Amino acid sequence: MPSDPIEIQIKILRQEIEELNYQYYVLDNPSYPDSHYDKLLHDLISIEKQHPKFITETSPTQRVGGQALNGFSQITHLTPMLSLDNVFDADSFSKFYERVFQKIASDQPITFTCEPKLDGLAISCVYENGNLIHAATRGDGKIGEDVTHNIKTIQSIPLKLRGNFPDLLDVRGEVFMPKDSFDKLNKKAIENGDKTFANPRNAAAGSLRQLDPKIAANRKLAVYFYALGNAEFNSAKNDAEKYSDYGQLVEKLEDSHFKRLKQIQSWGLPICDEIELRHGGKACLEYFKEIGAKRDRLPYEIDGIVYKIDSILDQEELGFVAKAPRWAIAHKFPAQEEMTQLKYVDFQVGRTGAITPVARLEPVFVGGVMVSNATLHNKDEIERLDVRVGDHVIIRRAGDVIPQIVSVVLDKRESNALPITFPKSCPICQSALEKETDQAIYRCTGGLICSAQKTQSIIHFVSRKAMNIDGLGDKLVEVLCDNKLINSVADIYQLSKDDLISLERMAEKSANNLLQAIEKSKQTSLAKVIYALGIREVGEVTAMNLANNLLDFKNITDASLEDLEKIEDIGPIVAKHIVAFFGNENNRQVIDSLVSHGVTWPEVKPKDESELPLLNQTWVLTGTLSQLKRNDAKAILQTLGAKVSGSVSKNTTCVVAGESAGSKLKKAIELDIEVISEEELLKVISSFQIVKI
Ligand code: IVH
Repeated sequence: MPSDPIEIQIKILRQEIEELNYQYYVLDNPSYPDSHYDKLLHDLISIEKQHPKFITETSPTQRVGGQALNGFSQITHLTPMLSLDNVFDADSFSKFYERVFQKIASDQPITFTCEPKLDGLAISCVYENGNLIHAATRGDGKIGEDVTHNIKTIQSIPLKLRGNFPDLLDVRGEVFMPKDSFDKLNKKAIENGDKTFANPRNAAAGSLRQLDPKIAANRKLAVYFYALGNAEFNSAKNDAEKYSDYGQLVEKLEDSHFKRLKQIQSWGLPICDEIELRHGGKACLEYFKEIGAKRDRLPYEIDGIVYKIDSILDQEELGFVAKAPRWAIAHKFPAQEEMTQLKYVDFQVGRTGAITPVARLEPVFVGGVMVSNATLHNKDEIERLDVRVGDHVIIRRAGDVIPQIVSVVLDKRESNALPITFPKSCPICQSALEKETDQAIYRCTGGLICSAQKTQSIIHFVSRKAMNIDGLGDKLVEVLCDNKLINSVADIYQLSKDDLISLERMAEKSANNLLQAIEKSKQTSLAKVIYALGIREVGEVTAMNLANNLLDFKNITDASLEDLEKIEDIGPIVAKHIVAFFGNENNRQVIDSLVSHGVTWPEVKPKDESELPLLNQTWVLTGTLSQLKRNDAKAILQTLGAKVSGSVSKNTTCVVAGESAGSKLKKAIELDIEVISEEELLKVISSFQIVKI
């Protein structure tokens, strides 16, 4: 321990911060809210500022240190960074299994460590005496680029190891960009008219190849480690000698790959929690299927499974060929990228007037799904890709995301490929287009004069989370609009049975059902009406906040920018959209008409803190929620009075477990805490009128 009290204080703060990082990133089980971490870091920054002589390279404050570099230096790997051989189907994997089974000459099925093949880029991190010394990309396998400055910005990479780590450690892993960070990054790029990344792997690679670490720091990368390059316990002269000169327990490496990964984890390095041991080829292929089934729900991209023979002795016996080990193989998922031809481009007009170019493609199977459309986002994206009608293009599908055009195959471009001209006016109503200066999206200025905007706003109005009119699907709304039976959302409430029966394929029974559903929808809630109106940027949660804070429709229509900005979640832009919406005379008429047709909702009661149904309760959300966004679920629970915590403890009231819930769910079961599904959460929410949307 240092003797200077300031130095001691700094040391304690650093240890506390490292512990929180470890709980968060390695154990996936934080015990404190993020604000506690922020406070400790803030304290450390200010003490170090006053006492710069105590700043060290591995201090948590030094993650984004120093200036941008002029270039990358090269690092020779302590041992080469290997690659993997691939198989693309079960038969080829079985052949691999047979081959190694013969070589090992065992009478038992082979045990494999099965791991998701993360779709990022390989990294080697070298620690000396537990301190991160440098990090390098794979390069040609022997020499890579020094990217330490960027690697240090990744919060889940420890700058210092913990536990009984080796004196020298070269640990290998994959740096990747989680799907939500990738989506946010591209969304922002689209809004700013900047270049988008084709996939999270390119985004991760592009971020690590930045000379300025501030860029990588903003890109929210993550890492999982999957192999040892080198580990030396210098002080252990032989296996029997378990204690070093300093009395520290010296470990030796485990003889199983799986156990080694756990050992790596115990040193504070994150490993993927989907990794499992499987015995025999059949069990490996089952793992492939299981992970494949949940691939879309994983928060990161994977492109296959890596099977590694677990026994280190067997690995050593099998050795390597060229650049790949004989004891491991990558089993790739079917390609998510395919080539096809662009037939033409449609320009769609959305509910808020946004013009989106949609590529119509020669249909092609991508990752098991037939794709015939892809989004081109906006004008800038068309220009960036320089895509032309008739071009051969690479299509990519990832999870539920709308397929995208990644690139154009220029070699295959024909001389008659036609450049795409972005419309000068709305393709539906010919109104002028406008573009906000800092955004890449062009919008039709026609408002409800534009039939496309009108139809889309009616589709939104009747949708499940809005007025929930059963049986009034998108197609039927289009038909009703085309036949001039409805012209605004209020007209829905004037539809007669004759109107409906006059339509093709509408029998009396369906007409009656629809009329009943329309009648039923009139009894709603204030939040649902607000949401149904389709005000720009006003989603379900904002609508709910408006209703619960302003209580009455009139208060909402008359609210000023200042009134609105006082409400949680509402910033100046959303406030502007709300004021503009209710300032429009047409919109006010539509609302009056809805009310005169009998649309009604119960009075919203002012929030009495003591009456909040979940007051003094602590809830935890874990796993992937499929119907609610996590932030929305959190906001709703908070509105009901609950505290939402990131970790499970004996004080937790209830845990909501989504898909692939892991350690938090385990802990809740251990502590005998109530666990409910997302479905049950939705029931809880709808049982409280106050937030019913
Ligand atoms: S093991 C000797 N495990 O795949 C073993 N690699 O195609 C070498 N990768 O360069 C690698 N996830 O970047 C291994 N769980 C995993 C992996 C993985 C992704 C990447 C890695 C490697 C490439 C080989």
